[in-house]
Amino acid sequence: MGARREQLDVEADDEEGIDYDKLIDRFGSQRISDELIARMEKLTGKKAHPWLRRGIFFSHRDFELILDLYEAKKPFYLYTGRGPSSDALHMGHLIPFMFTKWLQDTFDVPLVIQMTDDEKYLWKGDIEKGQTLDKFYKLGKENARDIIACGFDVSKTFIFSNLEYMGHMYPTVVKIEKAVTYSQAKGIFGFIDSDNVGKHSFPAIQAAPSFPVAFPHMFGENNTEALCLIPCAIDQDPYFRMTRDVAPRLGWKKPALLHSKFFPALTGAKSKMSASNASTTIYVSDTPNEIKTKVNKYAFSGGQVSVDDQKKMGANLDVDVSYQWMRFFCDDDELLAKMAAEYGPGPVRQGDKMLTGEAKAMLIETIKPIIAKHQAA
Ligand code: TYM
Repeated sequence: MGARREQLDVEADDEEGIDYDKLIDRFGSQRISDELIARMEKLTGKKAHPWLRRGIFFSHRDFELILDLYEAKKPFYLYTGRGPSSDALHMGHLIPFMFTKWLQDTFDVPLVIQMTDDEKYLWKGDIEKGQTLDKFYKLGKENARDIIACGFDVSKTFIFSNLEYMGHMYPTVVKIEKAVTYSQAKGIFGFIDSDNVGKHSFPAIQAAPSFPVAFPHMFGENNTEALCLIPCAIDQDPYFRMTRDVAPRLGWKKPALLHSKFFPALTGAKSKMSASNASTTIYVSDTPNEIKTKVNKYAFSGGQVSVDDQKKMGANLDVDVSYQWMRFFCDDDELLAKMAAEYGPGPVRQGDKMLTGEAKAMLIETIKPIIAKHQAA
């Protein structure tokens, strides 16, 4: 995306990857504290999602206001999105959508999902390579199927293509465009003079669904009351810092956010999983065999170099992809703790430490049914 966003994508400078604490300090969001999680559990009467308990959703903006509204039985809604750049979603993309599904179930609120076919055309379009506007529109339709498969409440969920819905939200977009100067957008997104003008105005289009006025058919005409909560990975935060900045000037409420860390690529935490590299990525369309082959061949191991050392010393779990992926996709806290004890460092309790091959087998058995269920849906 803009230069600044690209920096976020590659910020990892060592094996252990991105320094998320530094991001919180740099961008001024808040840590998701144990107290906040406890308050949420108390209000909803439900155990928090494992991704909250495990610090995968680690940062927020104004989430406590959302809990205040929930407590007072006042309205709020969820907003998330997808920039359709590949035929199928990868497992990293599932994170915000599966989490959003959990939020919708927990709070029983409306949800809007923006498909930014326009964004992907502006950034990646290349007519000579067949990357036409129509191609991105069609990818959006294709991706929408993967998103729908996450199981949202159909009576409360609105998924839209920007190309189709724009006329309806254009008044909201124009007001945002007028409130942001070129130098502000350049400062946030690192645009350069040779970027097309579409890129410069796109942030207003991603900002618009943060305001209920963009959805009169859902929230009524001129609704400025319903607060918006946006679950996404931390890479999307620049858009919403801009959005929160303009909101008061337009007489609208700032959206709240929940930020996740990145699901790492198979090759390690140095890079986030990206749809453009097939070998380091598991797509929701992969077959059980593809999953097995990719994990066995590419999953970065934090294990010791020799089998003997691994048996005695255990793996570095911070960089081991099998363990890190289990933290995302194994809901069973006990099984995860058992894996950490048997595979990770620390005293050997019974027998030898687990080998990387066994850790990979555990991972394969965990993700295969998740993908199979998704494909069936
Ligand atoms: P896109 O299509 O790049 O990503 C879709 C969503 O997935 C998150 N994400 C990841 N989460 C965890 N680990 C990863 N490796 C990973 N890669 C991507 C993204 O943060 C995002 O939440 N401009 C947006 C589309 C958009 C949007 C929004 C996203 C429009 N409105 C509102 C979130 C909220 C985009 O290109 O996302």
